[in-house]
Amino acid sequence: MATFGRSQSKPAAATHSARAPAAARFAPRLAANAPADAYGDAVRLGEKLMTDTKALAPRYAGNDLVCSNCHLDAGRKAGAAPLWAAFVNFPAFRRKNGEINSFQKRVQDCFLYSLNGTPPPLGSPELLAIESYAAFMAHGLPSGVSPPGRGFPKIAAPVQAGDDRRGALIFAEKCNACHGADGAGQRDGDTIYPPLWGASSYNWGAGMATIDKAAAFIHANMPQGQEGSLSVQQAWDVATYIDGKVRPQDPRFDGDPQATRRRHHDSRISRYGTVVAGHTLGDPATTPNAGRHEN
Ligand code: HEC
Ligand code: HEC
Repeated sequence: MATFGRSQSKPAAATHSARAPAAARFAPRLAANAPADAYGDAVRLGEKLMTDTKALAPRYAGNDLVCSNCHLDAGRKAGAAPLWAAFVNFPAFRRKNGEINSFQKRVQDCFLYSLNGTPPPLGSPELLAIESYAAFMAHGLPSGVSPPGRGFPKIAAPVQAGDDRRGALIFAEKCNACHGADGAGQRDGDTIYPPLWGASSYNWGAGMATIDKAAAFIHANMPQGQEGSLSVQQAWDVATYIDGKVRPQDPRFDGDPQATRRRHHDSRISRYGTVVAGHTLGDPATTPNAGRHEN
């Protein structure tokens, strides 16, 4: 019997992996197999921090998201920015801050923007644990090379520009049953559907707040259970819609949405500082900052 959701995804997933060349697939080591010593303890703590970020790092997580809401399967899933693929590519220069970033520094940015929080200090037990977990999984990968599965599978911008009206229709049809009509996420028993916009979601500085990254994530990974069912145009439209909603302020905000746009968002893939549905995105008068706390 055909049912909605997970059971339907199985044939699609099988076809997908049959097409991928076997040699290109990397099997990250499981944290459960880490040694019974201080390193293994850090690896296992790192895995838990991915899925229980808020509970285990309450001082640092500012919103209702956990790392594994975006880095799926606790940071193991290829095509959902897996941590093993990232690990072997740091330290690396990042245009975002104009510095050579260590792996820990890169993770700090996801605390600051994606979790709308306060980054744990470099060398803290939290960052050491997440780095140990990534290092353990990455065992056997050459360094300095992006392995297949890193980041989100690239998609080219579709022919038509992203459109809020089409995006809203796709959202209502394919997303709101889980993420809620107001995008604020919801809880169903033990399952938590994460917020996509509003005070409890990622802030304006996050990678997911740019349309191209959100579209690539959505195209490869959503709707959960029917991954791969959206066209590039549909993913782009719904990403445009989501990233045209109100969300917490960019921590780099300097008092003026236009100046902040020019400095950090001056491109078509960000709607920050533009007028959507009658108000300026990033305007302090209408931008929530709930959840964010300075140390
Ligand atoms: C709202 C979604 C979201 C959340 C939550 C999130 N991240 Fe990220 N993260 C991203 C995006 C988007 C990127 C950029 C991926 C890309 O550029 O391909 C990224 C990139 C990264 C990278 C670098 C990946 C690479 O291949 O270079 C690491 C490491 C990382 N995140 C770790 C974390 C950790 C650890 C947490 C929890 C503390 C976390 N992230 C929470 C969305 C998120
Ligand atoms: C069957 C339920 C379900 C449906 C339908 C669904 N999602 Fe999700 N979505 C999830 C869950 C659960 C997660 C978190 C994944 C995890 O923690 O393993 C998630 C994560 C996300 C994230 C990253 C985390 C965040 O809060 O920003 C985005 C973006 C997203 N979904 C967008 C969409 C879009 C767009 C659609 C419709 C095209 C959609 N989802 C449909 C369940 C669903």
